[in-house]
Amino acid sequence: MTTTRHLHVGLSLAATWLSGSAWRRADSQVEGLFGSDFYIDVARRAEAAKLDFLFRPDTLFLDPAMTATGPGFSSLDPSILIASLARETQRIGLVTTASTTFYPPYVVARQLQSLNWLSGGRIGWNVVTSLDGQRNFGLNDMPPAEQRYAQAEEFTAVVRQLWNSYPAEALRFDRASGQFADRQRIQPINHHGDYCQVEGPLNTPAAGASIPLFQAGASDIGRQFAARIADATFAATPDIDAGIELRNDLRARALAQGRSADSVRVMPGFSCYLADTRDQARELFQATHADTERARLLAKAEGLLDMELSGLADDQPITLAMLPTPPHRVRSRTHTELVYRLIERESPTLDELIRRPEVMGSAHWLVVGTPDDAVTEIVERFEAGAADGIIALPGGSNESLNRFLDQVVPALVERGLFRSDYSGSTLADHLGMN
Ligand SMILES: Cc1cc2nc3c(=O)[nH]c(=O)nc-3n(C[C@H](O)[C@H](O)[C@H](O)COP(=O)(O)O)c2cc1C
Repeated sequence: MTTTRHLHVGLSLAATWLSGSAWRRADSQVEGLFGSDFYIDVARRAEAAKLDFLFRPDTLFLDPAMTATGPGFSSLDPSILIASLARETQRIGLVTTASTTFYPPYVVARQLQSLNWLSGGRIGWNVVTSLDGQRNFGLNDMPPAEQRYAQAEEFTAVVRQLWNSYPAEALRFDRASGQFADRQRIQPINHHGDYCQVEGPLNTPAAGASIPLFQAGASDIGRQFAARIADATFAATPDIDAGIELRNDLRARALAQGRSADSVRVMPGFSCYLADTRDQARELFQATHADTERARLLAKAEGLLDMELSGLADDQPITLAMLPTPPHRVRSRTHTELVYRLIERESPTLDELIRRPEVMGSAHWLVVGTPDDAVTEIVERFEAGAADGIIALPGGSNESLNRFLDQVVPALVERGLFRSDYSGSTLADHLGMN
């Protein structure tokens, strides 16, 4: 018997459609960025399109220079934002982000279960080890990646133990006997580890529905971590080969961990600039990025490669031999490795390099074209085994977001690749985990 694979579709709530200079458009509604109506409108429309989930990435630092010309990383606290969406939606999954490097596990465990109650079991946790922000948490340097992942592993185990320390089944509400909860089912965890000391139990009971875990780093240890704990990964795959390689590797690693090959759903970021014609889409992309100064792109490339590039001519080919030998002091090895891969394959000129998605677009898969072009690419990658779904990052305008929801998603439904209605009520249901 063959089972038909179905796509999973999420939408980023990072308001990517306002990035670059798109927030300056008259219809951008940028003034709503720090209120709930802006997001509720998007959430309702995403739910009407039956998407699996809304995904709210997060950082815990701000670059004032970047914020002078665009929203950058300024944002509401993701979990508080998600709480306001839980009340205004009924079925769509809601994924929030919490850092294992900077937050205490007790607080994270509690916030997530609180959201899980408020949403009726629709919460997911994007587990991040963070890229920056250490000085906001009493640290001078970012801990090395190995340490961050070891901490993430312990942190995640502690959060899961806390969720089990006061399970939904402990609740009795037995008016006749006066038993509110079964005391035997509520137990401390007494965790004494390298990174956290937590007694427990949690004082928020678990809501019953399991909370799927998302993860993003795709370095060797990042993948190992994903294979052990993740139900889905937010992947940076600039081309189809990167997606196939990542997905095959994660499937093999999951099997080696005693999990099923399907247990880590690979969901690449899908950056799309959509218009009626390809020319209009190209214009939209160019207009969105026309103000992005060369200096900023150069600084981004320098950060990714941990080397100076500013003395080089625009037409200078960048070759592997020019690059520092790993390991680097870089924020994300995932992104650095993808730039190395590009340079090894193509030796682009400096000007080409800084305008490629690997530098300009956080290495996400980029489609600049019509809704049909987007559908063709999604189907191609899905069928080639480069993705189990997508996390949409519509760019350039509200129009691009609208076309994604109103044209791309219905076309996927028409092809039988995506649901026409929800069959379950929790995020785990939507992801096919139950
Ligand atoms: C596609 C992608 C998205 C990420 N999103 C976030 C995020 O929203 N917030 C955050 O703090 N870190 C984020 N990260 C950083 C990762 O959690 C991780 O700290 C970083 O990539 C280092 O791991 P690596 O060496 O495996 O790449 C992201 C990384 C990738 C690759």
